[in-house]
Formats: sequence, C-alpha cells, structure tokens
Amino acid sequence: MNEYKDIINIYDANIKEEKDYEKLIKFFGVKEIDDIILNNLKYITGDLHVLLRRKFFYAHRDFDILLNKYNEGKRFFLYTGRAPSKSKMHIGHLIPFLLTKWFQEKFNVNVYIQIPDEEKYWEKKADNYEEIREYALEDAKTIASLGFDPDKTFIFIDSEYIKNMYKAAIYVAREINLNTAKSVFGFDDNSTIGLPFYIALQIVPTFFERNIPLIPCGIDQDPYFRLQRDIAEKFGYYKASTILSKFVWGLQGPYTKMSASDPKSAIFIDDDYDTIRYKIFKYAFSGGRGTLEEHRKYGGNPDIDVSYFWLSVLFEEDDNKLKEIREKYIMGELTTGELKEYTAKKIWEFLSNIQERRKNINIDKFMYDGRLAREMWEWEFRI
Ligand code: TYM
Repeated sequence: MNEYKDIINIYDANIKEEKDYEKLIKFFGVKEIDDIILNNLKYITGDLHVLLRRKFFYAHRDFDILLNKYNEGKRFFLYTGRAPSKSKMHIGHLIPFLLTKWFQEKFNVNVYIQIPDEEKYWEKKADNYEEIREYALEDAKTIASLGFDPDKTFIFIDSEYIKNMYKAAIYVAREINLNTAKSVFGFDDNSTIGLPFYIALQIVPTFFERNIPLIPCGIDQDPYFRLQRDIAEKFGYYKASTILSKFVWGLQGPYTKMSASDPKSAIFIDDDYDTIRYKIFKYAFSGGRGTLEEHRKYGGNPDIDVSYFWLSVLFEEDDNKLKEIREKYIMGELTTGELKEYTAKKIWEFLSNIQERRKNINIDKFMYDGRLAREMWEWEFRI
C-alpha cells in the first residue's frame, strides 16, 4: 500500500473531488503553478496555452527553476508518453501531448515520446499482447498527428527500442529498492514482477540528453519522476522537471474517470461528428434542470456539467465566449440541448483537424528516419 492510495492509485487514478488535487500537491511534495510562473513563461513565449491559462496544468516540480536556467542559457528537452492498451486514445490522453507540442513550437526543442507496450500488459489491463502492439502503432500515429516537428521528435515503442535503452535500465534498476518502489507505487502480492522493473524503463528517457528533461503529464505519472530525481545526478544527468495536469472527466459526470474501455465514458480521438454528438446527447451529465420551464426559471449549474467542463478545459479557447456561455447557462437563457450542441461542434472542429492530418502522417519519420530519430537509433547511455 502506498501512502496516498485513497486518492490516487498510479495504475488507476481515482480523484473524487477538487480537494483531492490539493492533497496530492502535499503528498507528492510538488508545487502549485502560480501566476508568477505563468507570467515568467509568458514573458518568454508571448502567450499561454489554454491549458496553462485555465490552470488545468496546476502543479509542477522545479519548473520555475527550469525557466530561470533557460534565461541563463541552459537548454531543456521534452519527454512524455502513452501506454497502449486494448483500446484507442480518448480526449483525456490528448492533454499532455497538446502542451508538449506547444512547448516544442515555442522553444524549438527536441521531444521524446515513449510508447511502452509492456506496461499495461504487465499491469494486466489488457490480455492480448499482440493487440497492444497494434494499438502502439495506432497511438504513435495519433500523437504524431498533433503537429510535432518530424525532425525534432522521436517516437519509440519500448519493445523495438529496448536494445538502446537496456544499458541505462540496468543502471537505473540497481538504484531502486523494491521497498521504495512498493511505498511509491503500492504493489501488492499479486502484482506482476514486470511492473517494478518497468519503473526503470520509464525513467531511462530522462537521460536521452544532458539537458534538463521537462515532462508534461497527468499528475498520476509524477511518482516515476520523483524516483528519477533521487538518482539522476549520480549518473551526471539532470533531475527531471514535471508539469502536471488534472484529469478530464468522463461523460458520466464530475470526477468520473474517462475510461478507454468504456465508450459510454469517453470521446475517442477518431470519433466522427455523429458519434460525438450522440454520446454527448445520450450520456453527458448535465447541470441543467429537469424541465425546460424549470431551467428557464432557476437556471443551470455549469460547475457540474460535463459539456461546460470540457469547453472550459480546452475546447473553448475564447475566454469571453466561455464567460458568456457560463452566464447564460446560469441565467437559464442557454438550454442543456444548446450547450450540448455547441460542445459537440467545438469538439468536432478540434478532432476533425487531427483526423485530417492523421490520414497523411508519415510515421516512419518520427520513429526511424527523421533527423532526431536517426540520431536516437545510435544513442547509447554513458555515465
Ligand atoms: P497513459 O497511457 O495511462 O496516459 C497517457 C497520458 O495521459 C494522461 N491522462 C490523462 N490526462 C488528463 N485527463 C485524463 N482523463 C487522462 N487520462 C490519462 C496520463 O497522465 C499520461 O500523462 N505510464 C504512462 C506512459 C508513459 C509516460 C511516460 C507518461 C511512458 N513514459 C513519460 C508520462 C511521461 C501511462 O500509462 O500513460
């Protein structure tokens, strides 16, 4: 058992209320992303991504220090990942990749994207390993379609790239005791022996460069990097800096899990317009009133409304428009049906662009023959 298991299990994030996010800051020993950091960042980048502006990325480790070092001329690189399972990626999975892409655009730095095809298998989240491998490639394509620079982005599937990673994994695995791994990750007697070793594999890419790794991810992933920070300097590498997000709710309501294995909870990145609209109308939890009359009279509650939540996280970038929607909903001027219709259109606008780009994606550039990919197939860990 780990000490924060009631709030978050690394293998099954189960946040129940907003307060849990504050608790995690304390338990993990991370810091809140405050306005000072955001202003410092904006000073360099000119503007802020909507996920930062709305503080959906809400916590960090050493991101303030990273920005100071950057101003002194120190470089950093980006690293994040996606563990394929038995279904496709949903809109929640997009979050860290969208911010990573934004950072790449603003700072023109290398991005490393790990696709660990062993993790969910060892976790027993999926039983068919061959199927996971197929999803690994599908996920790689989806991620590449977000607009990463093919010459500065390396996407790798663990089982293919393991030969290059293995030496570093040997060093890393030696530094982490089972006892520590247990208290951070909460393994029990039924956990497979693969999972504790996998910790080493997720740490390895933080050593791909002798620059500071910046890792945008959901807060559930922070524990890996907490361990990385205990060992990195021993090998002559930098402690990882993380920038951590909250979780996108599932269709069922506030703080429900968007689960890829439950289509009633998730909008998938390759859903078409009719499917998105259907799911939102049929399943999206609404803060509207029982009847139109009541809604007009008493108004709706945007704070428990899944459609409004999704707009506020990502899909309505215009702050004024979001404010107007909020006010009209509270006043009862905007109905649940209208809000759902609008949300379906905004999500479709967003996803259809990704789907279009995905049709023509040359994944080999990202995985094998783009500039960074070619370099990385020659990479070797050195201490
Ligand atoms: P995975 O595949 O479970 O999730 C991929 C990333 O998406 C985040 N995420 C979410 N973010 C917002 N809302 C949600 N509903 C939501 N669901 C998932 C996760 O936090 C994660 O950042 N072990 C990793 C794969 C990995 C990785 C990494 C992640 C390998 N290397 C380096 C981050 C950094 C995993 O199982 O992710």
